[in-house]
Amino acid sequence: MATYSESSFNTDHYNNARPNYPDSYYETLLDYHQGDKNVAVDVGCGSGFVAFKLADSFKNVVGTDISPVMISQCEGNKKPNTTFKVCPAEQLKIDDASVDLIASAEALHWVDNNKFFPEAYRALKSGGTLSYWFYLEPIFTFPKANELYDEFAFGPNHLGPYWEQPGKDRLRNWLRDDDPSKFGFVDVIRNEFDPYNPTPTTLKISKTIDLNDMKSYLTSWSAYHSWKKDSANDNKVDIVDQLINDLKPVVGDGEFVVTWGTVYTLARKK
Ligand SMILES: C[S@@+](CC[C@H](N)C(=O)[O-])C[C@H]1O[C@@H](n2cnc3c(N)ncnc32)[C@H](O)[C@@H]1O
Repeated sequence: MATYSESSFNTDHYNNARPNYPDSYYETLLDYHQGDKNVAVDVGCGSGFVAFKLADSFKNVVGTDISPVMISQCEGNKKPNTTFKVCPAEQLKIDDASVDLIASAEALHWVDNNKFFPEAYRALKSGGTLSYWFYLEPIFTFPKANELYDEFAFGPNHLGPYWEQPGKDRLRNWLRDDDPSKFGFVDVIRNEFDPYNPTPTTLKISKTIDLNDMKSYLTSWSAYHSWKKDSANDNKVDIVDQLINDLKPVVGDGEFVVTWGTVYTLARKK
């Protein structure tokens, strides 16, 4: 996934616009975890949401990302017990059996998990935890808004062709084909939360927002970044402004609630 590595990618904006993860999920993660709390690694750490949160519970946290611009954003905010380094998930450059917990949020759909799962297994101590999770699309309470959003995000004449593949399709498939038990992990727990058919989860991401917040979220997307760079779009109305205008009569000028689909996986090294 190259877009997040471009020097023009605005990491501050990303940090402010993206959903964060609820404390209830970190409680699930720490309840599941049975080992020490010496070293945790956040893979594909982006602007560092997860690394900074884990730093409250682990002695040392290492954030890793393939993007130098994301890592330099983290460096600027770092805490005494956090370090950050540029490296691909598939090659963590971490000693064998040295890590208690590996976490990864909203990143492994860009990663070759046939390489990452063995790499995580190698780096974890026996009994160590691997957890990775994702949010999918924000779902409105207005069906017409969901229709407009889907066309905007995935339509062939909208952002559909601008997603890097196969990552986006893997995410849209909730990463159902990625199974850490095939790589030796045990005690695997997987939980999907679909706002259209809600079931219990501790990874519930819901926000009360207005159209300005929605615009900020949509303009943090890698696909939007790619759409903007495509000279074929130079003379067109901005694709996000167009959606926001179309949404206005549907959701109104005030606040509304959106809820993301989410999926998490917890697994343990034997
Ligand atoms: C959508 S961001 C998620 C960031 C953060 N974990 C969060 O929850 O907001 C995905 C991140 O994965 C990183 N990434 C993509 N492919 C990667 C790879 N092969 N190895 C490591 N990081 C990768 C990107 O640079 C980006 O920072």
